[in-house]
Amino acid sequence: MGMKADIRLIDDNGLRIDGRLPNQLRPIRMEVGVVKRADGSAYVEWGGNKIMAAVYGPREAYPKHVQDPNRAIVRARYNMASFSVDERKRPGPDRRSIELSKVISEALTSVIFVEKFPRTAIDVYIEVLQADAGTRVAGITAASLALADAGIPMRDLIVGCAAGKVDGVVVLDLNKEEDNYGEADVPMAILPRTGEIALLQMDGDMTYEELTNAMEMAMEAAREIYRMEIEALKGRYGGDVNE
Ligand code: CDP
Repeated sequence: MGMKADIRLIDDNGLRIDGRLPNQLRPIRMEVGVVKRADGSAYVEWGGNKIMAAVYGPREAYPKHVQDPNRAIVRARYNMASFSVDERKRPGPDRRSIELSKVISEALTSVIFVEKFPRTAIDVYIEVLQADAGTRVAGITAASLALADAGIPMRDLIVGCAAGKVDGVVVLDLNKEEDNYGEADVPMAILPRTGEIALLQMDGDMTYEELTNAMEMAMEAAREIYRMEIEALKGRYGGDVNE
């Protein structure tokens, strides 16, 4: 963010470098139930991102001292494969992935009925196979599908979506070049039905008005992504999904 380059991100027709309108999402494809050994799983392709999510649990939490007698603990682990980015990513957790794992765990905890499962752990593995900006929000979306696939009771499906600002224009769902050379990126996790926000971060800078516009754009897109989630779950369960 903020590395101002000579490349133009918005052309004379108001279109972005990949031809999108400011409020247009990248193509998104979702598949549920892709890993046999997991209790629930999902695969999401979102623009140039390819992300797998697998859920295990609720199961008795180990080591025992991490158990909470009142609720399940949700442990999300966000991981980038070495081959997922241009420069080989050194394997294992780094500062960024530890922080993302923490905020994603918190966002997912807020939608799961954790009090129904005392002393248990719900493990959510998010594997980024290919990264092209917006992996945390695509990862949250994949995790939501995997949790639903595992039959874990949730208040609602959760949707990740980002918006931001490039070349002075508020835009939805930044791609890699826009993320690198744009002015701001605002990843969000949203519960579209109630309009609740479970995660909100901002990198870069924008005015208050631009920020509210970006959030409104992400909120509207989240309703569309929510419908895609329902369709993906219906595809797996033949229409037997509680909407
Ligand atoms: O992916 P997300 O937008 O949630 O997180 P970010 O930290 O803003 O990273 C934006 C993009 O930078 C990632 O999606 C990757 O494409 C790229 N990146 C990278 O190339 N190498 C890293 N170690 C981390 C991120």
